[in-house]
Amino acid sequence: MPDRNQKDNHKDKIRLVVLAFSGGLDTSVILRWLQETYDCQVATFTADLGQGEEVEEAREKARALGVKSEHIFIEDLRTPFVADFVFPMLRAGARYEDLYLLGTAIARPLIAQRMVEVARRLSADALSHGCTGKGNDQVRFELAFAALAPDLRVLAPWRSWDLGGRQALLAYAKRHGIPVATKPSGAPAYSIDANLLHVSYEGGELEDPWHKVEDSVWTRTQNPQAAPDEPQDLCISFVAGDAVALDGKAFSPPDLLAEINRLAGHHGIGRLDMVESRTTGMKSRGAYETPGGTALLIARRGLEQITLDREVMRLRDDLMPRYASCVYSGFWFSPERLALQGLVDETACPVSGEVVLRLFKGSASVVARRSPHSLYSEQVSSFEETSPDPAGGNAPVAEYRQSDAEGFIRLQGLRLQLWAEQKRSLAEDKGKK
Ligand code: ARG
Repeated sequence: MPDRNQKDNHKDKIRLVVLAFSGGLDTSVILRWLQETYDCQVATFTADLGQGEEVEEAREKARALGVKSEHIFIEDLRTPFVADFVFPMLRAGARYEDLYLLGTAIARPLIAQRMVEVARRLSADALSHGCTGKGNDQVRFELAFAALAPDLRVLAPWRSWDLGGRQALLAYAKRHGIPVATKPSGAPAYSIDANLLHVSYEGGELEDPWHKVEDSVWTRTQNPQAAPDEPQDLCISFVAGDAVALDGKAFSPPDLLAEINRLAGHHGIGRLDMVESRTTGMKSRGAYETPGGTALLIARRGLEQITLDREVMRLRDDLMPRYASCVYSGFWFSPERLALQGLVDETACPVSGEVVLRLFKGSASVVARRSPHSLYSEQVSSFEETSPDPAGGNAPVAEYRQSDAEGFIRLQGLRLQLWAEQKRSLAEDKGKK
């Protein structure tokens, strides 16, 4: 396999490279650096993933840096992001290291996929991104590129240039006339990544895991203490594992996520402060806000409780950490994630129905659930004495006879009785010595 990372080989001619471009300082410097270093053209790709920023601004910025109009791509990816990436992941109930709902990780493969499509349209010969050499995002972009465009070269300037840190970047920007937006005083000094699923905050003061996340950091959730004193009950309808309506009103996937973000955020739901293990080996501390995703996971679980068979649920839950780690580590486009997805989607089929979620001061709890495909049988489960044939008609196929429990428990206990016997004889042997 050829080495696609052209670290030292600046002389190999590159004609056109597609760059993931936010329009911020880093990617603007990278744009100019690529043009200079490779004497090549750069096409920019900017995605709207519901980050809440005006993506159109990237057009002017790219133009000002000499990018041809036909090489500037700005796409609204909110629908595929939620329908084809976030919802399939929620079906798996995926959480990394038990807590992180993977809001940044799940966005990268989609951006990479669209960049590859643009590269093919333009017959570009390379792909580039502005991720640093320490984080997970470089891994996610480049593994997606490897799966989707194994022939294209990958340029990761942060790993190869000599612009070590912030000051060097600023100096480079000044030398090349790249406008540097002066941050308003009091602007956050940490790295933020936002989309429809979450907002993440890393770096700056947050790097000290003993430093408490200040209330001013959060942008998408209300402080639970200041959240409404009255709980709100929200009815969420699911079809085959995906949420489709709120309080009886149908929503498209991105609109549903936006709306539930608003409601859950208002009630202070979905804040997380954690230290996670990065793919690159180090620990890192992040603060995350995932109001809608948190609410949906809890609601879905409530519906699974009545619709999923015990062993199916256990199997899916056993595999969940593997699935989450595929997403976290950049293996979205991989045979193992696709195989797991097949299982996850199959298990999601009966997960249809309605859940009432109570939103109250930072917590979301299921207070009612129903499904046309419920496995729950009041007749089987009831504490009350029930006759197997209450209506006098045909007896139900699934029937619980309390007398069966005796034999069931006796056989389950058999090996425990033998084990008790063994322990006794071992103790006896020890006593003889
Ligand atoms: N630690 C999280 C992750 O790896 C969030 C990363 C945020 N990325 C960023 N470029 N600020 O998924």
